[in-house]
Amino acid sequence: MKKYRIGIVGSGGIARRHIEGYRAIAGDLCEVVAACDINQKTLDNYCETYKLPLRFTSTKELIESGEVDVISLLTPPSVRDDVIFPAIEHGIHILVEKPFADRLSDAVSFVRAAEKAGVVLGVGQQLRYMQDTMAAKEIIESGEIGDVMFVAHDHFQNRTKTGGWRKDEKRLEISIFSIHVLDRIRWLAGRPPEKVSAVTRYWGDDVRGETFTALTIQFTDGVVGTMVSSWHSPTIPECRVRVDGTAGSLLSVKKAITSDDPCILTIHPVGGEARKQEYLRKSATSMAMGENMKCLLESIGTESEFMNSGRDNLQTMAIVDAAYLSASRDGEMVDVDEAWRA
Ligand SMILES: NC(=O)c1ccc[n+]([C@@H]2O[C@H](COP(=O)([O-])OP(=O)(O)OC[C@H]3O[C@@H](n4cnc5c(N)ncnc54)[C@H](O)[C@@H]3O)[C@@H](O)[C@H]2O)c1
Repeated sequence: MKKYRIGIVGSGGIARRHIEGYRAIAGDLCEVVAACDINQKTLDNYCETYKLPLRFTSTKELIESGEVDVISLLTPPSVRDDVIFPAIEHGIHILVEKPFADRLSDAVSFVRAAEKAGVVLGVGQQLRYMQDTMAAKEIIESGEIGDVMFVAHDHFQNRTKTGGWRKDEKRLEISIFSIHVLDRIRWLAGRPPEKVSAVTRYWGDDVRGETFTALTIQFTDGVVGTMVSSWHSPTIPECRVRVDGTAGSLLSVKKAITSDDPCILTIHPVGGEARKQEYLRKSATSMAMGENMKCLLESIGTESEFMNSGRDNLQTMAIVDAAYLSASRDGEMVDVDEAWRA
């Protein structure tokens, strides 16, 4: 079978994890043949490290070269429309790193263009593919803990140094980091969000954006999600996900959402014994990125919706936009419809 030819756009920090994951997990479906970066030195280092045959310093040249079937867009969030629209016009499928877009309305325009052109567009919210999260989703879908009522997902880290493009982002903690957490809450809740209330704090000295968020989401059917994501937890780093259903609870605890540290998932159905499952995977984030890409490639040419499709991600973007609206009003409850109308 012919392998999909992948072009990496933006060969900075996260691009290393992507290529390693693609090669380990999706190597039978694809080959990374090209990279593109406006920084020649970064590009050369990347292409030499990973032995890539083609390198470009202009996205236009890469897109028009005819050398790639899929683009993995791994640039800062300010670089989205000038790659996504031309790639779609050339029939190139795209995986976009999170955040999908600056605003929900931009994301909507990307999805419409891709659907019109019959191009697969996905978003790199790879943390759904972490083993404990996949297991939690399977347990929920099996009915073992009954109907989901509540999802609490908190993340505590000591992230006091932020450099590069991140320090100038006005939308920082939610848009750049806890969008992963929100995406998982929504996925585990399994319903569309209706209302969001968020409180943010600007506690970082060297950045423009917020660095602390406490947030509540109301989903349909009365399901509630909550999140605290702090970059100011000096010690005891923790990433926890708790789901309470009508017939039991589950709890996943590890040190950080992307870390390789062991993760313990406890499942306790009502009337049954609590059991613990441990997950330990080397290069867990890279492997999840590989799985994310594999799912996207497998959906090309099929009618099946890709799990992290751009269309699916609109609901996560809607939570993000509603959260910023709420935070700008000191935590007032915001109807997600308002984010859709903005
Ligand atoms: N999914 C995750 O777990 C995860 C983790 C970290 C970063 N990210 C996301 O990945 C993206 C990149 O983050 P990063 O940490 O790798 O940043 P980075 O600064 O390390 O790398 C970005 C690269 O993009 C290049 N670039 C900028 N504009 C470009 C353009 N117009 N054309 C081609 N190249 C261009 C830069 O020169 C740089 O090399 C962001 O959207 C970020 O939110 C995701």
